[in-house]
Amino acid sequence: MLDGEHGPAVQKAMDLLVRYGEALDAERLVDTNNVCATVGATTPFVRDFAAQHAGGMDAVFSEFSLDCADVVKIPKVKVYTSHLQQGIDPLNAQLQGVSAELVKIYRMGETYLGGLGVQLLNTCTPYQVGNVPVKGEHCAWMESSAVIYCNSVLGGRTNAEGRESAGAAMLTGKIPYWGYHLDENRLGTHLIELELEVKDTADWGLLGYYVGEMVQERIPVINGVRNVPNLARLKHFGAAASSSGGVEMYHVIGVTPEARNMKEAFGAGKPLATFRYGPAERKRAYEQVNSTGRDAHVDYVMLGCPHYSIEQIWEVCQLLEGQRIHADTSLWIFTPSTIKQIADRNGYTKIITDAGGHLMTDTCSAFGRVMPKGVQVAAVDSAKQAHYLPAIMGVQAWFGTTADCIQAAITGRWSGRLA
Ligand code: F3S
Repeated sequence: MLDGEHGPAVQKAMDLLVRYGEALDAERLVDTNNVCATVGATTPFVRDFAAQHAGGMDAVFSEFSLDCADVVKIPKVKVYTSHLQQGIDPLNAQLQGVSAELVKIYRMGETYLGGLGVQLLNTCTPYQVGNVPVKGEHCAWMESSAVIYCNSVLGGRTNAEGRESAGAAMLTGKIPYWGYHLDENRLGTHLIELELEVKDTADWGLLGYYVGEMVQERIPVINGVRNVPNLARLKHFGAAASSSGGVEMYHVIGVTPEARNMKEAFGAGKPLATFRYGPAERKRAYEQVNSTGRDAHVDYVMLGCPHYSIEQIWEVCQLLEGQRIHADTSLWIFTPSTIKQIADRNGYTKIITDAGGHLMTDTCSAFGRVMPKGVQVAAVDSAKQAHYLPAIMGVQAWFGTTADCIQAAITGRWSGRLA
C-alpha cells in the first residue's frame, strides 16, 4: 500500500498511518474491520473548498480526512465504516435555523459518502443501532462517548482516533497497534469504592463526572455496584467521565467484560490511588455540573446526549403523555434516525409532538450548535451536555433527572433537587 500499488489515495492513507504509528512508537499496524468516523461536514466552508478545488468532495476528503494537500481520487472504503453524528438534522433544518443551502451541502456529503460505501448511521451511539463490536475486536473509532463505551462495555479495542487516522483506516483496514489495542494498557489504574447505591441514569452521569475529574486520563475501576446498570446508565457514565476527564476506558467489577473480579481488572498491579464515592462526593459533583444554572426560568430542555435509546424515549413518553409543554419552553430530544423510526411506529413521536416537543436525529445542540432562538437557560439530563453546552453556546445549564427535565419543560421552571 505504501508503495502505491493500491492507488494514490491508499498510498497517502498508509503514509499517514506510518507517520502516525512512528510518532506513537507503535510496534506495528493491526487489522481493523470497524471504523467509526465523522467525514461529512456541513459548512459553507466545505462547499467553497469543494468548489475551489478540482475533485470536489474528493478534495475535501484528501485535505480533511487524509491530511493531504494533493487531491487524490478517493476509492470505496476497504472496511466496514459507519458515520458518526453530523451538524444538522436535515428533516428539522428550518426549526434548527439551518438554511436550505446548508441542507443541500449536507445532502451532497451524504450522497458522496454513500457512494464510498460509508454506512450513514449518523449518530454518536453507533452501538445502539447495529455497530456492536465483539470483545477483542480491533476498531478505529472517533467520538469520546462512543470510544469509552466500545472499550469498557463491549470489550472492543480502540483509541480515540481523529478524523485523519480514521479516514486512513477506512481506506486501508489498518490502524497503529498501541494504546488500548494492547492488553497491558487496558488494566485499571485507580479504584473507586462506592459507598452509596447509584440509581438512575442521572446518578450514573454524576458518578462519571466525579470519576473523570479524579482520574483524568487513567482507567478507573468501580467497585461496590449493587444493581447492574443498563445501557443508558453506562452510556451516561462514560460520556460524563470522558468530558470531565479524558477517560477512554473503565471497569465495573462484576459488570464489564474485562473485570469479573479485582484481579482481572488490575492484573498483577495495585491501584495507584483509591477514592471513595459517598454522599459528599455526589453532592459536590451535582454542584459542579450545575455550576452555570442561576435563573429558574427554563426556555430550552435538551434530551438525548448521548443520543437516546428507545427505552429512554419510552420513559420520556410516560412522563409526557397527555401533558403540554410550557409556551415559553422548547423540548428537543435527539436520537439515531433508526431509533426514531421505531419511535414513529410505536406512537412515541406523536406523544412528543402532541405535547409540543420535537424528536430529532443526526446531531445535537452542543455538536451542531443548534438550539431554539434566544435560549438563555437550558435543562439537560446529561452531565456531558451540561459540561459542554454553556461553554459552546454561552447559555446556563441545569442538570437533573429526566423527570426533572420533563417537569421543567411543562412548567417552564427548574425545580430539580438532589434527592
Ligand atoms: Fe452525542 Fe452530542 Fe452528546 S454528539 S454524545 S449528543 S454532545
